[in-house]
Amino acid sequence: MNIPKHIAIIMDGNGRWAKLKNLPRKEGHKEGANSVEAVVQTALKEGISVLSLYAFSTENWARPKTEVTYLMQLLANTLSKFTEEKYKDVKLVFSGRRKGLPNKILTKLDKVIEATNGKKKLTLNLCLNYGAKQEITDAVNKILAQGKTKITESDIEKNLYQNLPAPDLIIRTSGEERLSNFLLWQAAYSEFYFTKTLWPDFKGGDLLKAISAFSRRDRRFGTRK
Ligand code: IPE
Ligand code: IPE
Ligand code: MG
Repeated sequence: MNIPKHIAIIMDGNGRWAKLKNLPRKEGHKEGANSVEAVVQTALKEGISVLSLYAFSTENWARPKTEVTYLMQLLANTLSKFTEEKYKDVKLVFSGRRKGLPNKILTKLDKVIEATNGKKKLTLNLCLNYGAKQEITDAVNKILAQGKTKITESDIEKNLYQNLPAPDLIIRTSGEERLSNFLLWQAAYSEFYFTKTLWPDFKGGDLLKAISAFSRRDRRFGTRK
């Protein structure tokens, strides 16, 4: 079977999941964190090399303060888990702007990145305070700071937040069919998989279904074939 090397996920629908159950939004986020754990374990088992997770966008700061605070706390808790035994083959990397993130998160993030640095099997690319337009703008500014006056595609590639292979498969849950400022550069030839399943209901079996759908796609990259 043709397996994607890099899967990126827009984890959406936590609020609607909670609403359907008459629960506060934070319960949706909490169950969403369990989906993160389930999906990481399945990705490990399936031999996926890179998993990018869109956890918090640069636009998500516009949400009510109580929700943002809750999400940051949940992220801190989830980060702590990545040093546990069952994540021993997971290397954590970060994509996003550091500026704006609480110090508590940055300290924890740096600690886990350092602790998991030698791990090889799965690279977990946590997209936090992430926006693709910001990523491209930051890359261009880094290149300009190097004194370059003419910019190539390869310059931009090398100055993105992480130097990873482009995602083969981008999954979005909850029925929305848009990128919401995720990986605009990297998605040039990605395959898309949209499912109505809400993120808190998305577990290992759902990831297997998406991988199986990917394996049936015919990627042509502009050639005739
Ligand atoms: C995804 O679920 C979590 C984040 C964007 C942080 P939402 O909170 O967007 O849930 P819906 O889209 O309102 O259902
Ligand atoms: C995208 O979801 C961001 C994350 C999943 C972190 P949103 O819920 O913020 O996206 P929109 O507002 O529906 O486009
Ligand atoms: Mg949403």
